Amino acid sequence: MLTTLQDILKKAHKGNYAVGAFNINNMEICQAIIAAAVKQKSPVILQTSEGALEYAGMDYLKCIAYNAAKQNIPVCLHLDHGRDLSIIKDCIKAGWTGIMYDGSHLPFKQNIKNTKKIVQLAATKNIGVEGELGTIGGAEDKITARTIIYTEPEDAKEFVEKTGVCALAIAIGTSHGAHKFHGTAKLDIKRLQDIKKKIKIPLVLHGASGVPRFLVKQANKYGAQITGSMGVPDEQIKQAIRNGINKINTDTDLRLAFDAGIRKFLKEQPTDFDPRHILGEARTLMQQTVEHRLKLFGSRGKA
Ligand code: G3H
Ligand code: 13P
Ligand code: ZN
Repeated sequence: MLTTLQDILKKAHKGNYAVGAFNINNMEICQAIIAAAVKQKSPVILQTSEGALEYAGMDYLKCIAYNAAKQNIPVCLHLDHGRDLSIIKDCIKAGWTGIMYDGSHLPFKQNIKNTKKIVQLAATKNIGVEGELGTIGGAEDKITARTIIYTEPEDAKEFVEKTGVCALAIAIGTSHGAHKFHGTAKLDIKRLQDIKKKIKIPLVLHGASGVPRFLVKQANKYGAQITGSMGVPDEQIKQAIRNGINKINTDTDLRLAFDAGIRKFLKEQPTDFDPRHILGEARTLMQQTVEHRLKLFGSRGKA
């Protein structure tokens, strides 16, 4: 059932688990996520980046997500890293049930001002807003940040009080993409604890993919060239949840599973060119990946 961001996260906050937020770009990705969430009886957030909306079209993604939300589990359709006001307005109007406004690239005061405005806009449809403070590293289609600027606890308190966001994405050492750390993987858990002491709303971890070695290995075995990759280890995800993270974003792991699945199939079945077989293999691997993460997040059985 379609659920708002604030409702899905309120329960996670109370129950000390995290809701998985997975990026969708097409039907197979959405099907894989929903099949996994239904199997694990888990609430789930389907999120669309501005790049995904550009690629697939808002109407297509809405239809796919709304269809997925007919299942008997809580499903939120969320805008990920919204920066363009017209896209944000369109999503609110079209029936997205969660909005992230990403003003992390702006000066502090401007971020507060813009975020507050989006909170007011979204409130007209009773939709909660996720804000972002600090910068998560890495580069995706539209979002690029060369360095990580860690979130300051005192700033986080002021930001939440002044904007009215229902959730806050914080920077504690993660990056988007498959290359999150040089050397050892380390989240700043002490900083997370300090932020948690000051604010009482759900906290969000972006750039949280695990970048499983077996997926990278499979992709590389069949022709990919992914070197030096490193994700957030499962143990640190658990630690982050124990210390107050209630929403965990994952995109890269889905991309890796998609890639590894397709490459394997094409190499092993060179005479088969049926898209259903090719994408079917990718979908199965993505579902397994999501199931693993939902269990890790402690959201299994919470639907
Ligand atoms: O955080 C960003 C997501 O991974 C989406 O990436 O903008 O390339 O769709 P994208
Ligand atoms: P990953 O690149 O670690 O999957 O992070 C995705 C994300 O934060 C989307 O907002
Ligand atoms: Zn992100």
